[in-house]
Amino acid sequence: MRELLRVERLSKVFSVGFFSRREVRALTEISFHVGQGEILALVGESGSGKSTTGKIILRLEKPTSGSLLFEGRDPFKMGREYTRMVSAVFQDPRASLNPRLKVSQIVEEPLLVHGETHRRERVVLALKRAGLGEEFLERKPESLSGGQRQRVAIARALVIEPKLIVADEPTSSLDMSYRAGILELFLKLKEEGISTLLITHDLRAVERVADRTGVLYRGKLLEIGPTKSLLETPLHPYTQYLISTMPVRHPSQRRELPEELPEESPSYACPFYSRCSKRLKECEEEVKEVKVDGRIVSCNLY
Ligand SMILES: Nc1ncnc2c1ncn2[C@@H]1O[C@H](COP(=O)(O)OP(=O)(O)O)[C@@H](O)[C@H]1O
Ligand SMILES: [Mg+2]
Repeated sequence: MRELLRVERLSKVFSVGFFSRREVRALTEISFHVGQGEILALVGESGSGKSTTGKIILRLEKPTSGSLLFEGRDPFKMGREYTRMVSAVFQDPRASLNPRLKVSQIVEEPLLVHGETHRRERVVLALKRAGLGEEFLERKPESLSGGQRQRVAIARALVIEPKLIVADEPTSSLDMSYRAGILELFLKLKEEGISTLLITHDLRAVERVADRTGVLYRGKLLEIGPTKSLLETPLHPYTQYLISTMPVRHPSQRRELPEELPEESPSYACPFYSRCSKRLKECEEEVKEVKVDGRIVSCNLY
């Protein structure tokens, strides 16, 4: 698979507070790639750095250190052409779609920005690819269901023919009944060769659509590899913990839930150190990154 995007030792530190400045390490040296026509999921609990990663790839935030390469080029040295190749879908279409505009105008906007022609045909085609017919052109977002609104947001992302879509929690604001349809749509786009970086905390969504999955915890990438093996035989103790909390399909599958883990201290080399039941003394000072079973895992157990 051809590599589309490479993220190399990416770090982001936010400086917060007005009178006493404090540093928040949102990301610490994370590295991964997205292949062409691939769906890569990034999972992790709230605050783990998922959105920050997506924002840097979308150039909405600048990295503190590390690099980004899109088809071998630095996005921060590219002009507007980058926004043709990478587009975004956010969590809440109610917030991301302008309520005053009609669907046709919303989807047309990126074409206007890039000075494109044949706009009507292209808007109709984008809507169709997102699963909506021409009857939606004149509608306003408020008259649509949550699922339809998210399809409009996806049509807007598609209309400029991007190579990569960064989708940040695209199903989290939707009712259960709409979620599967939106996920299916990313699978369909994959068949058309479009890559997706799927940011989510929903492991069921990941299981359904992602080719590979990366697990973020407190700004560090603890494990990344093919979704199937990662979910079936998680290597990192944190991935194991995360999967053990996954909702089961049937009560007969219910396992003992792990005990609530103690509070953590951030100063150890491994961010999971104080919660980890398998920790070793050396995990305080250093964590090795190893390749096991087609995966990269940052853990001294391997
Ligand atoms: N603009 C910002 N200013 C300061 N801190 C931020 C900012 N954006 C994110 N953070 C912090 O960075 C960390 C990661 O946040 P985020 O990437 O939004 O996580 P996630 O999407 O996984 O919930 C959190 O501690 C968050 O509070
Ligand atoms: Mg987020």
